[in-house]
Amino acid sequence: MTRFIDIHQHSAFDMDDGADDFEHSKRMLRASAADNVGCVFATSHMTPGITPFDYEKYYSAINEMNAFCLSENLPLTVCPGCEVLYTDMTRRFLEEQRIIPLGSSRSVLVEFGQDKSFDYIFDALRRVAAAGYRPVLAHAERYLCLLNKPESVIELKEEIRALIQLNTGAVLRKRSLFSSWDRKEKRFIKFMLDNRIADFVATDAHNTSSRKTRMKECYDFLSEQYGAEYSALLTGGNIGLLSD
Ligand SMILES: [Fe+2]
Repeated sequence: MTRFIDIHQHSAFDMDDGADDFEHSKRMLRASAADNVGCVFATSHMTPGITPFDYEKYYSAINEMNAFCLSENLPLTVCPGCEVLYTDMTRRFLEEQRIIPLGSSRSVLVEFGQDKSFDYIFDALRRVAAAGYRPVLAHAERYLCLLNKPESVIELKEEIRALIQLNTGAVLRKRSLFSSWDRKEKRFIKFMLDNRIADFVATDAHNTSSRKTRMKECYDFLSEQYGAEYSALLTGGNIGLLSD
């Protein structure tokens, strides 16, 4: 089986609420390799204009992580990236090339507060595109406006060429029948997958316990429900879209 590509996770150490030190980072990388992942994008949180981002520390962590993979013979490459929480300063940061895109592409992983309106998200992603970057909407299942109207995601794709990422944990989650959020999230994810709207599933792993890598489990689930072809695209086969 081809190894998966995980475009969203927090394994770069001492950068955010993911791996807190190099040892933790090593455990996450070993877990990814064991989960049949061949490439991870270490997408540390970035909040332009609000929280300073230590670029030197970040790139040095990426180098150390790749050196560790080599020294342990892990079949795994760590690529740079970040998860941008959209702020008023994001477009300026993009134009000044201060936002780390996904690998060598011109795509950036963008997230929002979960209560932002559809108009806000649409406008923000349009600004990202206008700055010359292709936006990848992080964990699309997390936004209430989209849960309430799943078909509005089609507008983001068709008008802005946004790419859509779902979290493996959300795809696999056991939900309560009594929670209206759970029911909406389930309906949203089904709509994204039934209509082949989602482009990527990624782990958004923060650790090796409560928010761990689950690519293989997710691939197996998707393969059974939606077939091997779409599952392969979601777990890495669509990576070319980042440079499209
Ligand atoms: Fe994340």
